[in-house]
Amino acid sequence: MAQIIGGITTSHVPAIGRAIAKNLQQDPYWKPFFDGFIPIRQWLGDVKPDVVVVLYNDHGLNFFLDKMPTFSIGAAPEYRNADEGWGIPTVPPFMGDPALSWHLIEQLVGEEFDLTTCQEMKVDHAFTLPMALLWPDQNWPVRVVPVCINTVQAPLPSATRCWKLGQALGRAVASWPGDEKVVVLGTGGLSHQLDGERAGFINKDFDLKFMDSLTTDPSWACQFNTHQLVEQAGTQGVELLMWLATRAMQGDEVRKLHSNYHIPISNTASGLMLLQAA
Ligand code: DHB
Ligand code: FE
Repeated sequence: MAQIIGGITTSHVPAIGRAIAKNLQQDPYWKPFFDGFIPIRQWLGDVKPDVVVVLYNDHGLNFFLDKMPTFSIGAAPEYRNADEGWGIPTVPPFMGDPALSWHLIEQLVGEEFDLTTCQEMKVDHAFTLPMALLWPDQNWPVRVVPVCINTVQAPLPSATRCWKLGQALGRAVASWPGDEKVVVLGTGGLSHQLDGERAGFINKDFDLKFMDSLTTDPSWACQFNTHQLVEQAGTQGVELLMWLATRAMQGDEVRKLHSNYHIPISNTASGLMLLQAA
């Protein structure tokens, strides 16, 4: 039986790609951010996962506003990155796991979550940069299953819906007969707003409460509707839905092994957590 051995949640910001390309990890602006990943890489080196299920939101590289699935999943043998216009280097391709992908799809559709299935899928900075932070040599030692949740075009799925999606994905992984060690990587958030009158908005109190809730009261954020989430976390802060779905995949009990919070990176409050299955 496949086992979810841990969940990692992190922000994703295109500027991280530029910082990596310019080797700015020790630069005073970047050091508090990059140093947060050292314990996570140590843990990954110890546990050696086989597969990473990556929950993230595409920002227009694979899906554009003309076709925007609420939930989608990759079922490709390989996933490639491409230029999104940020001027950051692309990364090497990722190896997929079509058999596991199709199992997850079968199980989820069976549970009335009708995901858009993608046998070709480009992965954007929200996928590639967190992976590059976990494996800086970009010699990916894992297979991947990308799962996208729409947070770029209204209407967005509710926090409760994302929580239930995560629970269903957790059950689906657990029912896979292989003996893979699976890590869930959820990327997005925390509070940030890139547009409009509140551009630059960050809400540290909310972010810290949200991070705390993932261990103390994990479905706490489900009390907020989309407008309330935008109010609390900003228009792009709703990306925290990935954290919620990641946590839901992990079941009742988790242990926090590591966390980091640093503001700002670019326009974003950057958060990081490692939650191990209890
Ligand atoms: C930024 C943050 C994001 O989540 C994103 O997708 C793009 C840019 C930023 O803070 O610059
Ligand atoms: Fe984003």
